[in-house]
Amino acid sequence: MLTNSNELLSPLTLAQLLLARGDLVAIPTETVYGLAANALNAQAVAKIFEVKKRPTFDPLIVHTYSVEQLARYAHSIPDEAYKLAEVLMPGALTLLLPKQAHIPDIVTAGLPTVGLRIPKHPLALELLHGLDFPLAAPSANPFGYISPTTAEHVRAQLGDAIAMVLDGGACSIGIESTIVGFPNGEPTILRFGGISLEEIESILGMVVKTFTHSVSNPSAPGMLASHYAPKKPFYVTTSGNLEAFSKGFLQKYAPEKIGVLAFEAGLAHIPAENQLILSPTADLNEAAQQLFGAMRRLDNLPVRIILAEFVPQNGLGRAINDRLQRASV
Ligand code: TXA
Ligand code: MG
Repeated sequence: MLTNSNELLSPLTLAQLLLARGDLVAIPTETVYGLAANALNAQAVAKIFEVKKRPTFDPLIVHTYSVEQLARYAHSIPDEAYKLAEVLMPGALTLLLPKQAHIPDIVTAGLPTVGLRIPKHPLALELLHGLDFPLAAPSANPFGYISPTTAEHVRAQLGDAIAMVLDGGACSIGIESTIVGFPNGEPTILRFGGISLEEIESILGMVVKTFTHSVSNPSAPGMLASHYAPKKPFYVTTSGNLEAFSKGFLQKYAPEKIGVLAFEAGLAHIPAENQLILSPTADLNEAAQQLFGAMRRLDNLPVRIILAEFVPQNGLGRAINDRLQRASV
């Protein structure tokens, strides 16, 4: 693995050279770290599936740097897509649009649409500006595991398998992009993420459909029922019910064998070091930013099980609850 300490090249230039020759580089974005390859090079993209052990029926998001670039990779772009793009790109939004023929089928898993996103992270944007190809990048985690929100998370799991991790610090949003598609021409949220439903509805001035049910049918977006999952058994209960919920588990497990992922406050009868609080001030943006790191830390503690609670179902709460739900299946 090449490190960022190469004396002659800046990390950014090194990343660009590696990507240009078809290697994989983990890149920072404001949502989660991505595992990037040249999206126009099918062989480079194939390495992503190998390294992640990702089924090839699960399509990848293509990353570019400006709204003008969208028409290079998609066609027949609806007005609503541009309305969203003008306000939210760069940002935590992915648009599913009819793909141009030169996007390799491996990227879209043979689907006629391509997911396009412009990350709002200065280093990612600079990287993309300097390339003459877009980047296909899923989250940089082994398939099904918790998404990485720091360079260290990526190194811990994929460090040996990829050419480089470009370190851009901790992700500011911490949860993946919101995916919006246009089935039958209607704007539809297919994955809750870093842009809230409320914001999308206010930009479009309409009620927006959501279709984010867990399915194992990959032709619906790869929203598999079990995803983002820790290795430890993970149980989630309704908002505010954690205390009562934990009582049942305390009959079977010693308190020190229970890990807790709480929204605002922990539990009196579980050791404090086993508990992570997502946001003491009940701020859903902070909770989203903390979520995946907290799940990882709990997974690495010597506990047997992890108990969690849903958060209020508004703003980024929908995306947090979606991830908690999938982690628990
Ligand atoms: O924030 C994000 O979106 C991050 C960063 C790295 O950009 N990427 C990310 O990628 O979360 P990934 O591969 O972990 O999740 C992308 C999801 C997958 O569930 C995939 O099935 C869906 O997007 N997707 C991508 N292209 C699609 C398409 N053409 N049609 C339907 N679903 C698609
Ligand atoms: Mg992912």
